[in-house]
Amino acid sequence: MKNQKIIIALDGYASTGKSTQAKNIAKKLDYIYIDSGAMYRAVTLYAIRKNILDESKIKILIKSLDDINIEFIRNNDVQKIYLNGKEVENDIRKSIVNSNVSRLAMIPEVRNFLLSKQRGYGKNKGLVMDGRDIGTVVFPNAECKFFFIATQEVRAKRRHLEQYKKGNLETYDQVLKNIVERDRIDSNRSLNPLKKSSDAIEIDVSDLTENEVFNKIWEHISKKIN
Ligand code: CDP
Repeated sequence: MKNQKIIIALDGYASTGKSTQAKNIAKKLDYIYIDSGAMYRAVTLYAIRKNILDESKIKILIKSLDDINIEFIRNNDVQKIYLNGKEVENDIRKSIVNSNVSRLAMIPEVRNFLLSKQRGYGKNKGLVMDGRDIGTVVFPNAECKFFFIATQEVRAKRRHLEQYKKGNLETYDQVLKNIVERDRIDSNRSLNPLKKSSDAIEIDVSDLTENEVFNKIWEHISKKIN
């Protein structure tokens, strides 16, 4: 069948440019784009605002999950994430969220809560989702899977510049430290750790431009949809 709708899973380490590529691919194919990391970030932001992020408040957080409503809303071609009706696109990228999100993403109830939402977006296929466990757990049958890697230094440099442009004054060392720490927690958690799916295509983006990465993944995707 021509132009068959598929699911594209784009996993990998923090700050490897997954979201940028996922967005571009979704735009080109007119697919839904979902940033699963933003969902973990939104739950973290909720917990920070309610002051229930502490280890001792985990039970309260778990009970509160049903009060959390996450939506992705598109306006003038720009998609933003909403938490309980309010746009939080910038707030979820702040350093307080960076420092706490991986710890929260270890909690099985949080993962399960988000897993069913994530699977819901794939019901009719035509979806690009990026994250850590999309190809391994969320959509193990995704037709196209990628796994992005890059050195920690390249990733920190990239994230530092991105944050700097937004007026965030964190130093390169602070950004690097957070990336190293999130890699450690994300790769070592017992439930659904960051891991390459055996059938995913690994791409080292360290020395590649945005366009080069796009062309590489497009080469694989175009074969699957035609
Ligand atoms: O954009 P960046 O690469 O910095 O991270 P993100 O995709 O926004 O994800 C933030 C955090 O959410 C990760 O460090 C993981 O702890 C968690 N996450 C996860 O556990 N599973 C996913 N599918 C996506 C994100």
